[in-house]
Amino acid sequence: MAKRVILAYSGGLDTSVIVRWLVERGFEVITYTADVGQGEELGEIPDKARSAGAVEAIVEDLREEFAREYCLPTLKALALYEGKYPLSAALSRPLISKKLVEYAEKMNADYVAHGSTGKGNDQVRFELSVWALNPNIEVLAPVREWEFKSRDEEIEYAKRFNIPVKATKEKPYSIDANLWGISIECGPLEDPWQEPPEDAYEITRSPEEAPDEPEFVEIGFEGGVPVSVNGEKFRELYRLVEELNSLGSKHGIGRIDMVENRLVGIKSREIYEAPGATILYEAYRDLLSLTTDRFSFHYFMNNVPHEYAKIVYEGLWFSPVREALDSFNDKLSENASGTVKLKLYKGSVSVVSRKSPYSLYVEDLATYSPEDSFDHVAGMHFTKVYGLPLKVLGRVRSGK
Ligand code: ARG
Repeated sequence: MAKRVILAYSGGLDTSVIVRWLVERGFEVITYTADVGQGEELGEIPDKARSAGAVEAIVEDLREEFAREYCLPTLKALALYEGKYPLSAALSRPLISKKLVEYAEKMNADYVAHGSTGKGNDQVRFELSVWALNPNIEVLAPVREWEFKSRDEEIEYAKRFNIPVKATKEKPYSIDANLWGISIECGPLEDPWQEPPEDAYEITRSPEEAPDEPEFVEIGFEGGVPVSVNGEKFRELYRLVEELNSLGSKHGIGRIDMVENRLVGIKSREIYEAPGATILYEAYRDLLSLTTDRFSFHYFMNNVPHEYAKIVYEGLWFSPVREALDSFNDKLSENASGTVKLKLYKGSVSVVSRKSPYSLYVEDLATYSPEDSFDHVAGMHFTKVYGLPLKVLGRVRSGK
């Protein structure tokens, strides 16, 4: 009996060549393609997969599951890798891995396969996710071991087996896209001293080209979940993110250019476009600070965003630590209901106002007007006691 493998299939050159390469090595290949909001037409995928040699091609719409189960918890963690990257590519891998495992179990396949290289993060994310869910499944990564040394050699191989190859001149970039953001690397971006050429960006307008008038947007949240944009309710979270992606793109928001530390020890220059995520992070951070007491908010900010980002980036999605942090973040988000108003203007997004039924901002405590109810004498005593350690230190240091 042929060995059966479920391959994560994008329909591009690499994964199409992988299909044939596996068939040539005695595998029966079933391809799996997910719609995670990459904005590509997936209608032709089954034909493509079959003409490359697959016996079956599965295509699934995972946009809502991706938005709710992966993007939303990451938003609630305000996780940004190395303070900048909202983890878009890193988030889709565990979801796709989960589906590969489910289909492998359903269809009696002992193998799953992916198209990641040996020097990226994605191999780690795929493999750790698969093993955490089913350690008996073997993961194949043909690109790490095959004989092709260039794209041209792959194209030659594809032609030999009548695998259709797009004739169009490909851009020099390697792109990974989904609802939460787009990652772009390679080509001219490999020189970190070179400003990204305008054609590297897929969806955002440049801030220079953005409208000269600012635009305001109001985002409504219920228990930490974004539910409306400018008063319009969205039942599907992925549609809300799409709406913010197009609003943000128009204003040049969410372009990120960074040199990041990969898991395998190298630094790489990447650019990202994440307009919707960037707007949502700004909004959620502001609302959370409004509705969370100081002790909990500081604990959260000091301990969660960076740690959570590392967990996601480093392939540990299916780990108890991520689940435990989710519980913590869900607790804080219980009160994160309300509305945040933001101003979008030439590449920048800033919160201009916010309100919440659970707001901890108390006007008569904060005001400097005659309505002030704050106990100023208590402030004097507080300062005296709170400052005592430094007063003592001052005495010892100065000898007075
Ligand atoms: N560096 C990013 C990450 O590790 C993006 C990688 C996505 N792949 C790509 N072909 N651009 O999450």
